Amino acid sequence: MKTLIIYYSRKGRTAKIARKWAHKTGASRLAISPMAYRGTMREYLQYLICTLTRRDMELDLHNVDFSKYDRIVLMVPVICGMMSAPVRTFVRQEAGRLQNVEYVIVHKGFRARQPKMVRWLDKTLGVKHLACSSIHQSFNKSFKARCIDGQSILK
Ligand SMILES: Cc1cc2nc3c(=O)[nH]c(=O)nc-3n(C[C@H](O)[C@H](O)[C@H](O)COP(=O)(O)O)c2cc1C
Repeated sequence: MKTLIIYYSRKGRTAKIARKWAHKTGASRLAISPMAYRGTMREYLQYLICTLTRRDMELDLHNVDFSKYDRIVLMVPVICGMMSAPVRTFVRQEAGRLQNVEYVIVHKGFRARQPKMVRWLDKTLGVKHLACSSIHQSFNKSFKARCIDGQSILK
């Protein structure tokens, strides 16, 4: 099965999880990269403001044919109980082009399930997700997926 793991990572923790799972499953990876103020404090501020206000961020371009993949795994970091802005922008931009998706909620808080977020993702992408799980990014050093619904490739 040809799999693509799509992720956004500001501090590198989600990237580490994506790398681990790509290595384990043989999947390819695509990093979502915001354009403005890269690596600066302004980038971080803009990231937080856009996340909290649900505003879009300008993302770097990519040239990926998603239809080549049998499974798209979308990693979704939770920031202040919300979906991180680069992931939200990516989903809005790619709506209609992503099929056979599974979501992985990456979180540090105790709340592992994010049903509202999952509903929004399905509605915006116009799909019914194949699987959903969550990874706690600090307790769980092996980055094992928990709360798995459906046929996840991270089992
Ligand atoms: C400002 C901020 C707010 C956060 N809020 C939450 C939260 O509400 N719930 C949660 O589970 N994790 C929260 N986290 C943890 C992030 O989900 C976690 O650090 C992120 O997945 C790792 O991202 P990274 O790939 O940029 O390292 C927060 C992190 C930051 C920096």
